[in-house]
Amino acid sequence: MNQEERIVSSKVAPEDHFDSDLRPKYLNQYIGQQSLKENLGIAIAAAKGRGEALDHLLFHGFPGLGKTTLAYVIANEMGANIRVTSGPVIERPGDLAAILTSLQEGDVLFIDEIHRLNHVVEEILYPAMEDYQLDLVIGQGPGARSVKMALPRFTLVGATTRTGLLTPPLRDRFGMALRLDFYTPEELVAIVKRSAGLLGVKLDGAGATEIGRRSRGTPRIANRLLKRLRDYAEVKGGGTITAQVADAALSMLGVDHMGLDDMDRRIVLAIIDKFQGGPIGVETLATMVCEEKTTLEDVYEPFLIQIGFLIRTPRGRMATQAAYEHFGRALPRQRPTAMDQESLLF
Ligand code: ADE
Repeated sequence: MNQEERIVSSKVAPEDHFDSDLRPKYLNQYIGQQSLKENLGIAIAAAKGRGEALDHLLFHGFPGLGKTTLAYVIANEMGANIRVTSGPVIERPGDLAAILTSLQEGDVLFIDEIHRLNHVVEEILYPAMEDYQLDLVIGQGPGARSVKMALPRFTLVGATTRTGLLTPPLRDRFGMALRLDFYTPEELVAIVKRSAGLLGVKLDGAGATEIGRRSRGTPRIANRLLKRLRDYAEVKGGGTITAQVADAALSMLGVDHMGLDDMDRRIVLAIIDKFQGGPIGVETLATMVCEEKTTLEDVYEPFLIQIGFLIRTPRGRMATQAAYEHFGRALPRQRPTAMDQESLLF
């Protein structure tokens, strides 16, 4: 992979992609995350008023909640260029040096999955963030020499699904750390209505409500379902996404009334049917459902915990009574009580 392939650089969000067409470009178009938007709005207005680059920012939140979208919003609001890359693709210090030296004053550098930067690369980032200085050692052994270079004042926007995995020195160099939460069904309804308008999709209020309720609190999923439901409505319905069309299409896609998909069901039912409700270790669970442990932890579990179907205990994962009821399973007779479950929690 060469440098060109690793970095996407543009003045505004690229237009050739479904998601990017739907991305809000400015803060006032962004739905949800109210308090984050207020904090960000103040920081942007203040930086613009002073004619300075915005402070470095860290977004954390589960996949699909809008971290990348917000990085583009920041660049648009600041009238700046954005460069987009991600932690695992910056393999060597030279890769990061190439990116940093090509930045212009005020540019936004977005590093997704910043917790996956390796530590030699991360150390280049410290002086770059703090003093806008590039500090590189070229060569090895007695011939090695240190090169220092001034960098333009840029804004680093880091995104991570887990702040806990960030090293303290990196975390401390961000001026602001902002958390993205799951969206309410009402916010998702507003998002799919906006997206439908932009795409020219016919969607009625009840259809939008159905999508909002079954999108796991996640705009990326809501917009993806909208696309699938548009196909279904055009082929099997009258072209409009109504509640009936939405329900039929979502059921066909294996998305149930609470938004659980096939993998969610496999996870919860593995705990209930194979391990009497748990506790079961996350590694065993991952093997049971043929999924990566980190995907289980970052993608599936947060929503199952949020809706109260799963709890994490030091001894492993447990299914809750609500999960048993949802799947129509009888609670086992010998089961830790709610009090026991509390005492098992971290
Ligand atoms: N599309 C995806 N996420 C969005 C959001 N938060 N607001 C508006 N449109 C969106």
